[in-house]
Amino acid sequence: MNFSMPVIQTKTKLTEELNKLGNDNDLGLVPTMGALHKGHASLIQRAVEENKNVVVSIFVNPTQFNNKEDLDKYPKTLVADIELISAISANIIVFAPDVAEIYPDTVIPKIYDFEGLDKVMEGEFRDDHFNGVGTIVEELLKTVKPTRAYFGEKDFQQLRIIQKLVEIQKIPVEIIGCEIVRENNGLAMSSRNERLSSTIRQNAAFIYETLKTAKHKFGMESVLNVKDWVAKQFKNSSDFKLEYFEITDVETLTPATNKNINIKYRAFIAVYVEGVRLIDNIALN
Ligand code: PAF
Repeated sequence: MNFSMPVIQTKTKLTEELNKLGNDNDLGLVPTMGALHKGHASLIQRAVEENKNVVVSIFVNPTQFNNKEDLDKYPKTLVADIELISAISANIIVFAPDVAEIYPDTVIPKIYDFEGLDKVMEGEFRDDHFNGVGTIVEELLKTVKPTRAYFGEKDFQQLRIIQKLVEIQKIPVEIIGCEIVRENNGLAMSSRNERLSSTIRQNAAFIYETLKTAKHKFGMESVLNVKDWVAKQFKNSSDFKLEYFEITDVETLTPATNKNINIKYRAFIAVYVEGVRLIDNIALN
């Protein structure tokens, strides 16, 4: 395939290229699974602004998919991805290995102790998902050795787990969380949005609208009332099925039962619509 910029496929070649850059502690990494959209573009843009050199990795990591169909359906749009990256900067190093390069022996994740961060929400509904994320992110961080690595807050639980990963594995890198980028109607940007019909994609504004109202209610009502109210909104909808709505402590991700003024809370939601699973979250206080 011909790309508008060089694409590196092996760790050896990547290390050679990185060695040429010298070691001046100014390297950004943006790990992605491709199918890049404006949300990724904003991470890459920020990495370019804050680092002398930037690596963007594109790898659909099989060990973080608990559902084979979801993995098979994951869009692969390498040519368009490279175009999006090159429009941001021609100097970005793109690393797009294949599965055998990352998993030469067996395609299984390492097992981590994320101190409970992985036991709730996404972890509860997606077996081994975060072990898979930890495995690939650890591999990328140890191969690229970036100064800073960028992750979107749409996957806020993933962001917290990656912060824990670098702490327990003692990986010297600054993990930077970037704000959620939304479509015009408020729907959080996601590669999965492409799989929605245009009507449902418009109507999916309902998810963020619900989160915003939940935030407003959280200022006045109990945790339980807010959760009941959200559940009721979804019972009234024939298209949108609620998988979970949770309010947690931002640090520990422990589900809240009461409000404590010294704790920062966040609300998290996962929804099925047209067979597509969408997630979103919002800071509550
Ligand atoms: O957020 C993602 O796209 C993936 O989980 C990540 C961090 C690139 C690991 O495969």
